[in-house]
Amino acid sequence: MGQYRNIVILTGAGVSAESGIDTFRAGTDGQPSLWEQHDVEDVATPEGFARDPELVQRFYDMRRAAIQTKLPNPAHDALARLDAAWGGDLLIVTQNVDDLHERAGARRVLHMHGEHLKAWCTACDVRSPWRGSLADYPPCPACQARSLRPDVVWFGEMPYEMNRIYAALRRADLFVSIGTSGAVYPAAGFVRDARELGAHTLELNLERSQGSHLFHESRLGPASQTVPSWVDEVLAGA
Ligand code: APR
Repeated sequence: MGQYRNIVILTGAGVSAESGIDTFRAGTDGQPSLWEQHDVEDVATPEGFARDPELVQRFYDMRRAAIQTKLPNPAHDALARLDAAWGGDLLIVTQNVDDLHERAGARRVLHMHGEHLKAWCTACDVRSPWRGSLADYPPCPACQARSLRPDVVWFGEMPYEMNRIYAALRRADLFVSIGTSGAVYPAAGFVRDARELGAHTLELNLERSQGSHLFHESRLGPASQTVPSWVDEVLAGA
């Protein structure tokens, strides 16, 4: 691994699964996945929010409360260790809306699908740190309007900071995808982009994913095991 300098890491729900946060599609340990329990159209689209804002706010209130009871697992810890030690460029692009990468100590993290612990005011466009409920229409801390929504990117909305992500992909010589099914674009397309731009591409996932064939290399197993051993390997070769 000594030949690498600039790394982009894409993470998905599989990284947080062993912390007890539901994945969206493939269920773990026989548990139903989130989208088997809830209708995406109802709780993860702007149209669903317009139709029934209270249902959507209650859904995200529950998720926001739940993530605050969870802890980072060895996969988050290993990525934080890599972030601290790595002298080259490194960007952890996460699709996850939990804060477990940060709580493990990672600093170079970009939340392309937003964050549970922020509220977005659709009146003044300010995003504020948020830990409690949004269901009872609290005022925006910046403008006092009662127009706060979860700061989570829904289907049909543009993920955040795409320019910064593509700039990092252009510089990357190693692209690693961890715990994501490769079902949702644009994230699912990053492997193709990285590969075309000359990066080595590696997937770490519990099982073969929809996009496995696009990677130079796939390693299967739980993230709590595959990620620490991959990080050891990269740091040994650095
Ligand atoms: N270790 C590694 N991988 C795991 C583990 C584990 N312990 N447990 C599950 N996985 C894998 C699953 O096999 C699956 O391929 O993680 C992947 C999770 O896939 P999804 O549930 O589809 O999650 P993700 O890819 O992050 O979803 C992308 O979809 O609904 C949207 O906005 C939501 O950000 C999310 C996006």
